[in-house]
Amino acid sequence: MTCIKYSAALAAVACTTYLGILVGRQHRRPAIHHHGGHDAPHHGPPRPPRPSKRAVGDDDLDAAAAERHHIHAEPHSPELIQFGDWSAKGRFTKPPAKPYDSSYPQLTNLWEIVQRWNPDNVTMPVPFKETLAVLNYSDPHERSLAEAYRNAEVPFKIYDVPDVEYARDAWTDVYLTEQFDRKGNQFKVEESENNHFMYWRSPSASGRRAYPDWAPPTDIVHSTFADWLAFARGADDRELGPEAQHRYLMMGTPPLSALLRGSSVRRSHFVTKDLPCFTPGTENFFVTDIRKNKGIQCRFGMRGVIAEAHYDGGRNMVAMLRGAKRYILTPPTSCAHLNLIRDRKHPSFRHSEIDWSHEHQARSAFSPETAGAIDTVLREGEILYIPSYWIHYITSLKYSIQCNTRSGSPPNHDGEADIGRCMGGEGMPTAAKRPLKKKKKLRGAPGFHMTSGVIKDH
Ligand SMILES: *[C@@H]1O[C@H](CO)[C@@H](O)[C@H](O)[C@H]1NC(C)=O
Ligand SMILES: *[C@@H]1O[C@H](CO)[C@@H](O)[C@H](O)[C@H]1NC(C)=O
Repeated sequence: MTCIKYSAALAAVACTTYLGILVGRQHRRPAIHHHGGHDAPHHGPPRPPRPSKRAVGDDDLDAAAAERHHIHAEPHSPELIQFGDWSAKGRFTKPPAKPYDSSYPQLTNLWEIVQRWNPDNVTMPVPFKETLAVLNYSDPHERSLAEAYRNAEVPFKIYDVPDVEYARDAWTDVYLTEQFDRKGNQFKVEESENNHFMYWRSPSASGRRAYPDWAPPTDIVHSTFADWLAFARGADDRELGPEAQHRYLMMGTPPLSALLRGSSVRRSHFVTKDLPCFTPGTENFFVTDIRKNKGIQCRFGMRGVIAEAHYDGGRNMVAMLRGAKRYILTPPTSCAHLNLIRDRKHPSFRHSEIDWSHEHQARSAFSPETAGAIDTVLREGEILYIPSYWIHYITSLKYSIQCNTRSGSPPNHDGEADIGRCMGGEGMPTAAKRPLKKKKKLRGAPGFHMTSGVIKDH
């Protein structure tokens, strides 16, 4: 019995190796970690051991092999196209690597973007034309180009980042389940009655007074990681639609200040340990101001999950470790067209009240030639740079893991003036002061119209 199991495991390992050769891609453990603009080799903490293949059940092994090589992926799913493979029979195109110039980035009208591809639809239209610069971090020349894009505070993408490749390889379902079961690895699972997740935080006392009828747009539910994972995997298998209940899992790690003991960084959290370049001891390519860094935030998404449009006041590096997410990005100058909630006291402050997947709402808000935007599919293995105050809207195209790290506002305060002008100062009367209904549903509302910047949903 044991012998049979062992042979089957060996056969599966052989199969995995064969597939690896077939696909021509090796997920190697990086020998040297390049951290930052300087090519100093990193002598970081030892890596955690990979989960032992023989310890894993045969079924899991097969599933892992299939997952790694995307055997079950649908024909158009972005996973079929590995990050380094841009030919992909012409389904994807990207601009050639070139130095930053002030005509970058190319913007398209937001209405055209959401009309061409409705955000509720998780199937990428093909061919899909990337307009963002996509650069190889492991290539010294392309990395220096990427640095110039970053310093110009424009969005761009990089790939072939050693830490990301390591985590992609290590973060199997088995490994993640083990890590989440450990004490101290706290996380939160939100549940929405559909695929939309409007961000909210608990209102302050004055917020409660200002919005007495406010109720959370999503529920926080108890779930183990294993249960959440089974739900997310099941959603892909069942091709779950946008109107069904969705769950979104979030976790965060401590910032550097909490991890420093003398000159060493205590990396007890698996995310901090597996992605050392995102909590560096000294400034690097990804974190350019460690004092403003608040640790790593990870989002575990399932098919269809949408994070409503918003801005953050910090430079953000977003790594796609599993699956793929669509990002629609628009510069801070678009703020005035997006109906962002302007009252700080509101639990969903900074977030857009427009449902971008609702055709009527999107058309009325975006069809005038006003807001220009960028549509990008962040594929497994890529890192996206989102500059401070750039507004972003995110759809998880399937089961996905994304982790990000921040660096505070840039020294020249890019974007701040635009956002300040549009959002107004504190105490300014705002259009956002109105009670929100429980489980706010903006979609499909008959007679929807907008007046003086306020969405009326009736
Ligand atoms: C989703 O988009 C794909 C690709 O453009 C298209 O083939 C499909 O019909 C769309 N599905 C729906 C429900 O609109
Ligand atoms: C990135 O560049 C390095 C150095 O030129 C090269 O070895 C590597 O194959 C490139 N990565 C991909 C995915 O093309």
